[in-house]
Amino acid sequence: MENFLYYTPTKVVFGRGTEKQVGDLVKEQHCTKVLVHYGGGSVKKSGLLDRIYVSLEEAGISYVSLGGVVPNPRLSLVYEGIGLCRKEKVDFILAVGGGSVIDSAKAIGYGMTNEGDVWDFYEKKRAPKNCLPIGVVLTIAAAGSEMSNSSVITNEEGWKKRGCNSEYCRAKFAVMDPELTMTLPAYQTASGCVDIMMHTMERYFNRVDNMELTDGFSEHLIRTVMKNAKILKEEPDNYEARAEVMWAGSLAHNGLMGCGTDGGDWASHQLEHELGGMFDVAHGAGLAAVWGSWARYVLDARPERFAQFAEKVMGIEKGTDLLETGRKGIEAMEDFYRSIDMPVSIHELGIEPTEEQIEKLADKCSFDRQRTIGCVKKLDREDMYKIYQAAR
Ligand code: NZQ
Ligand code: ZN
Repeated sequence: MENFLYYTPTKVVFGRGTEKQVGDLVKEQHCTKVLVHYGGGSVKKSGLLDRIYVSLEEAGISYVSLGGVVPNPRLSLVYEGIGLCRKEKVDFILAVGGGSVIDSAKAIGYGMTNEGDVWDFYEKKRAPKNCLPIGVVLTIAAAGSEMSNSSVITNEEGWKKRGCNSEYCRAKFAVMDPELTMTLPAYQTASGCVDIMMHTMERYFNRVDNMELTDGFSEHLIRTVMKNAKILKEEPDNYEARAEVMWAGSLAHNGLMGCGTDGGDWASHQLEHELGGMFDVAHGAGLAAVWGSWARYVLDARPERFAQFAEKVMGIEKGTDLLETGRKGIEAMEDFYRSIDMPVSIHELGIEPTEEQIEKLADKCSFDRQRTIGCVKKLDREDMYKIYQAAR
């Protein structure tokens, strides 16, 4: 097992009706003014936002609001949020929504507590040294941002989607009521399930083999999400299935599934981020579209790992030919994605990229040939190009 640091400071308040506690949870933070940050309107439509306001008012908390976060959250709204928070002397941000809202809140939090342009942190020019405290009321099980150390923002200038990781942005608390996710469109539910599985698979496909416990957690988590994603396709109001998926979403990305690994591969995420930046696709769906092509491309670098995945996760009998077993496992996962109406190619995302756009995706993903991605097999710009081509 590799050495690791496991840090999960987020207080999780899980279950039916827990959003009623949000006022008291914010009060525990001893802040003076809160920014309530939310997305494009689902929280208004469901009445959640009003319930949050009531809870804050009952706890005597003063607040201002900023909505309008879009999926693949934009830098321009982050700047607007920083301006508003400065003007209103905000010292706590409450994100009510999904990964996009939480990530936008984290970026505003960085902007409020560090000098200079917040985009520098996403371009890796500098590292943040602080962040405003963040609280979360989660409405979609997917990105895992409610417990992760990550924030992903899209800069409209050049449509670059970039991530920034630091321990400062970990949420102080996360309120998770599975019932809140019942209003999700089926596509977002399925896309979220893929993202949760992928956060586990990115860590599972690594270069080390000696993690019996972490492997077992990961294999069971992926199987649990697959089972419940199928249930939710037929029964979107099934509380138990919503609850399993929601908890899996946090555990998949709070670091637990990476304990003892070398950190994992993450190439599929990097490949998807460029698709998200350029074509504004749902993150999980974008991952489903590229994963199979990535997996086939790197299979020969880790046949034993892919064979283990095929056997333990996809239930395929492990034959003597590890490459063949691994290939069957990849195909079985693609079949599963299809079964929950997720794409397994860029074309199935509804995009027909031109040759020039494929070149551009590879240029952007390689930071103009300045970096490689992945650890199962280190991928350079030409490898990225070939994977995008295969996924086309
Ligand atoms: O904006 P509203 O109207 O709220 O609609 C949202 C949005 O259109 C809707 N939605 C959310 N909860 C709902 C709901 N609709 C009805 N009922 C509800 N209860 O769902 C749509 C997607 O929301 P979004 O927040 O974008 O989803 P998700 O949680 O999948 O977040 C995706 C973003 O997170 C990033 C992704 O790249 C993407 O930008 N990621 C963040 C990570 C992190 N911070 O740790 C890790 C991930 O790998 C990922 O990269
Ligand atoms: Zn993800």
